[in-house]
This record gives sequence, C-alpha cells and structure tokens, in this order.
Amino acid sequence: MGKKVRLGIIGASNIAKQVIPLFSAVPGLELSAIAARSLARAKKIAHNVDGVNYYGNYYDLLSDDRIDAVYITLPNALHFRWAKLALLAKKHVLCEKPIVLKQSHLYELKEIAGKQSLVLMEAMWYRFHPLIDSIRESVQGGDIGTVQAFHSTLGFQNPKNNIRWSRKLGGGALNDLFCYHLDAITYIMNQRVSMLRKGVISCCKKRGVIASLAGELSFNSDCYALLASSIENKWENRTTIVGSKGSISVPNLLVFPLLSEAVYRISTADGCVSRKFNEFNAYEEMFRAFVEMIHGERNHDFLLNNSLETIKLLEYVNQLCHEKLLPRAFIQKIIRKVTFHVNKVLYGQNC
Ligand SMILES: NC(=O)c1ccc[n+]([C@@H]2O[C@H](COP(=O)([O-])OP(=O)(O)OC[C@H]3O[C@@H](n4cnc5c(N)ncnc54)[C@H](OP(=O)(O)O)[C@@H]3O)[C@@H](O)[C@H]2O)c1
Repeated sequence: MGKKVRLGIIGASNIAKQVIPLFSAVPGLELSAIAARSLARAKKIAHNVDGVNYYGNYYDLLSDDRIDAVYITLPNALHFRWAKLALLAKKHVLCEKPIVLKQSHLYELKEIAGKQSLVLMEAMWYRFHPLIDSIRESVQGGDIGTVQAFHSTLGFQNPKNNIRWSRKLGGGALNDLFCYHLDAITYIMNQRVSMLRKGVISCCKKRGVIASLAGELSFNSDCYALLASSIENKWENRTTIVGSKGSISVPNLLVFPLLSEAVYRISTADGCVSRKFNEFNAYEEMFRAFVEMIHGERNHDFLLNNSLETIKLLEYVNQLCHEKLLPRAFIQKIIRKVTFHVNKVLYGQNC
C-alpha cells in the first residue's frame, strides 16, 4: 500500500454523514477536510472526527494542496461542475451517483482525468457487494442460460423539501433511483446502449420533476427490461432475472440497509438454491477500491466505462420521458405487469 490518500468531502450531506464513520475501517484512507457552503455546517461535522479541517466553501478545499482526492456528495445537477473543478485542481474524484446527467459531460471529465492520470469514479456502491459479484458471475457465466428478462422495482417516499424534488438540482425518480436499474442492466446483465432496440417509458411528473416512472427497454439480444421507480411512493426493491435455463430472484438487489444480510435465489432445472451473504458494507468496500485505484493496484477504466453506458441509457430514458407524458393509469398498468412477473418468479415456484 502506498502513502495515505488524504480525502476531502464536498457537501455536508446526509450521505456524507452516514459514510464518515466508515473511513476508520478503510486502510490507506484519511479524512482530511470537509467543505460546506456554510462554515458552521462544515465545522459541526468536522468536530466529530479528530484532526479534520473544515471550509465554508468548496473552492478553498479544492485549493488545499494537502488533499489528494475528493468525494462529491452534492445534488445531481452539481456533480459535473464540481467534478470538473476538482479534476482541474488535480484531485482524484469519487462522485455520488449518477455521476453526471449527460454522456457528453462524462466524456469531458474522462478526458481531463485521463490527461492527468487521475482516478475518476462513480459512487455506484452496490457494485461492491459480494452478492452483486455472485449474481454477475452467475448471469455472465451462463448459469441461467441466455438472459431474456430483467424486472425491477424501487421506490422511496421523500419529504417535499428534499433535493430529490428539485428540478434545478437534478432531482426526480429517474436520476435518483431508476439509475440503479439502468446500472444493473449494464453492469450485471452486460447489455449495451448500442444493443438497444426500443424503449417505452411512461412517467408521472409532479412539481416539475419525474415523481414516478415505469417502462420497458428491449435489446437486440432479445432481452427485455421492465422497470419502475418512484420518489413519492415506497416500493419494495425486488429484482428478477429470467434466463432460458432458469431464473434469479433478489428481494433486495441494493442491500438496504447497507449492513444487512443479503440473499438471492437461483432456480434451474437442477433445483432451487438460496445463496446467503453475511453482513457487509458495500460503501466501505467502494472506498477501499477507490484507494487501491489511486495507488494503481486496481484498474478503474472498466468501472468508469460501465458508468458511461449507464449514463447513455439515463439520457435516452430522460429523452423518452420528455417526449410525451402518458396518464397515471398507464404507469400503474406497467407497475402491475412488473409486480405480476416478479411475484410469479418469486412465489410461483416451490423453494
Ligand atoms: N442519501 C443517500 O442515502 C444517498 C445514497 C446514495 C447516493 N446519494 C447521492 O448523494 C448525493 C447527495 O444526496 P443526499 O441525500 O445526501 O443529499 P443532501 O443531504 O440534501 O445533501 C446535499 C448537499 O449538497 C449541498 N448543496 C450544494 N448546493 C446545494 C443547493 N443549491 N441546494 C441544496 N444543497 C446543496 C449541501 O451541502 P452544504 O452543506 O455544502 O450546503 C447539501 O448538504 C446525491 O447525488 C444522491 O444521489 C445519496
């Protein structure tokens, strides 16, 4: 392991507060400073951690030479601007999801990072859970045959003053939650934007943002994705992957809360097996990977290229959402369809 990576956090956000206690378990990582738009807010968080500096604006943190890397925890619409400024200030960047909202922005960040040999990574934390590694290996290794369908739902109820209800800040269910479905399609299922055949999305807008959306994406590989997300309703995170030789069902692909036990079930002609995983914190593992990438002990191109595929899908779905807004009844019909398929696979077999 090389020298310690000195990390600065941009934004006194909820996620930053949740993540700070994990740093002590990450070898080679040292929290050096926190910046918020108000000095008092930054100071309040910094006081809970020994020896951490604090700044009342983000620029001061970026001009601190003692900081090697930053973790950006700002609202989605601000990710691009601050990731770019951080890279130009020669800091490695770990940015919350979705890393940006437009593919052109990610190309631009990639180029800046590449020129300066800096690590640029999206905080798609769920990818770092062993449950995801196992599902990915099963799917890509052909355990369930050729993948034909991916069904997934996810929804949280957010208070009205939450950033997720702000259009200006890049809120809405597509950017906040649907992006996880899209990432699972690219990361687990290995579907690419170039293989996209058709998309049908229906969304319900409220207060200027996409409050709920549901739809179907079909790929040339004859794979269909049925997906639904909401920032106004609590919907269980249920995922089913159906292949020509079997299926995988996951009651909680995103493993909330972060430390809970995880399980998935794989059904093939040989029978039905449940695979269980002990408590594990994927966020902690993600920071470990970030440090290893900075030290050149792990390749990061693959993860960033995957983020690029996901952002391309996100941009595509965003365009579909704004083409035409279909009535709420249609969304509910698609959600019923997804739920029906998920229940059929989860409960329709004896296991
Ligand atoms: N919360 C989660 O569980 C979670 C999980 C995964 C990913 N994320 C991602 O993390 C990011 C932050 O989410 P969050 O829920 O932690 O948000 P949050 O608590 O609302 O924090 C957002 C932070 O952004 C800063 N900010 C800068 N300009 C702002 C503006 N104009 N309006 C509002 N805030 C502004 C604020 O920090 P200052 O203190 O500097 O003012 C605020 O603390 C998002 O990209 C989200 O997708 C969150």
